[in-house]
Amino acid sequence: MALLFKSDIDRPDAWIPALRHALPDMEVRDWPDRGDPADIAYALVWKPPHGYLKSLPNLKAILSIGAGIDHLTGDPELPRDKPLVRMVEPGLTAGMTEYVVMQSLFHHRRMLDYRDMQARKDWTELQPVAPWQRRIGVMGLGELGADAVERLVHLRFDVAGWSRSRKNLPGVACFAGAADLPTFLKRTDILVCLLPLTEETEGILNAETFAQLPRGACLINVGRGEHLVEADLLAALDSGQLDSATLDVFRTEPLPADSPLWAHPRVVVTPHVASMTIPQTAAEAVARAIHTLERGGTPPGTVDLSRGY
Ligand code: NAP
Ligand code: GLV
Repeated sequence: MALLFKSDIDRPDAWIPALRHALPDMEVRDWPDRGDPADIAYALVWKPPHGYLKSLPNLKAILSIGAGIDHLTGDPELPRDKPLVRMVEPGLTAGMTEYVVMQSLFHHRRMLDYRDMQARKDWTELQPVAPWQRRIGVMGLGELGADAVERLVHLRFDVAGWSRSRKNLPGVACFAGAADLPTFLKRTDILVCLLPLTEETEGILNAETFAQLPRGACLINVGRGEHLVEADLLAALDSGQLDSATLDVFRTEPLPADSPLWAHPRVVVTPHVASMTIPQTAAEAVARAIHTLERGGTPPGTVDLSRGY
């Protein structure tokens, strides 16, 4: 029984030793040396080619290297009868919270304006806003969103969150479901998207959503590029309905050279690096998930394919 590691972007020289250390009793194979497909019981993958997982006849479960599983659900031949477990690990969570806090502070402290002023050698003090006067709204209160809002509360921001089921998080105004969305948006100066990509959430960052935010709001999209209607964002920035945006994820990655987002003066672009899975901590999480599955249990991060995340 073997664990197969397959990714074109994650470094096997970091992952394979970490996995072997965490799973001393299991054979760990890197995909170019996969061996007999019949040996593979667990596949730890990022963006495998369509049909690849189906070619493993004795697969017991699929483990995603990332938190998102949209790289798998697009495979028409995905073995949907096998447990699918997305990545839940402290390194990924810490990285995302760091990024969300960094970008929230960046917009809160008007760093784009100061950058422009520096270019003009303009020494003007902009009026500060106290953190408790800045309303940050996080869409998605799962593993990542819940940790981010906790840190934002510690920084004394006025924090709200929106999810499918209602939460009770200390210091956070919690909203749930489509019915609560307008109220949530109305009180949000900085909107953070940390949703999974599903049929329900695709295109959720659109003109109608932006129109419900207070004029001059900011957007931070760290979910998926497909959450955003890019043309609607550009229109909202041009009209002043939105002040600025940070985008880490895009419909087409790498972001094409001719995208107007690259050079937009009110847009910060990063290349899908808001957070990355850390091999050492992730290998421990993978080992725990496999042990739980072997005992017949359900590990944290087990995906419900009927709801899409
Ligand atoms: P998660 O634990 O599954 O949490 C998802 C959250 O979204 C939950 O709170 C869920 O509500 C909510 N949600 C789902 N569908 C919804 C809907 N239709 N309406 C309202 N709320 C909805 O996922 P996670 O681990 O936090 O990860 C979230 C996403 O972050 C990933 O799927 C991935 O796309 C993205 N990500 C990006 C990067 C990056 O580097 N940019 C890195 C890692 C992850 P309930 O709590 O009610 O279920
Ligand atoms: C990265 O985007 C992830 O889903 O972990």
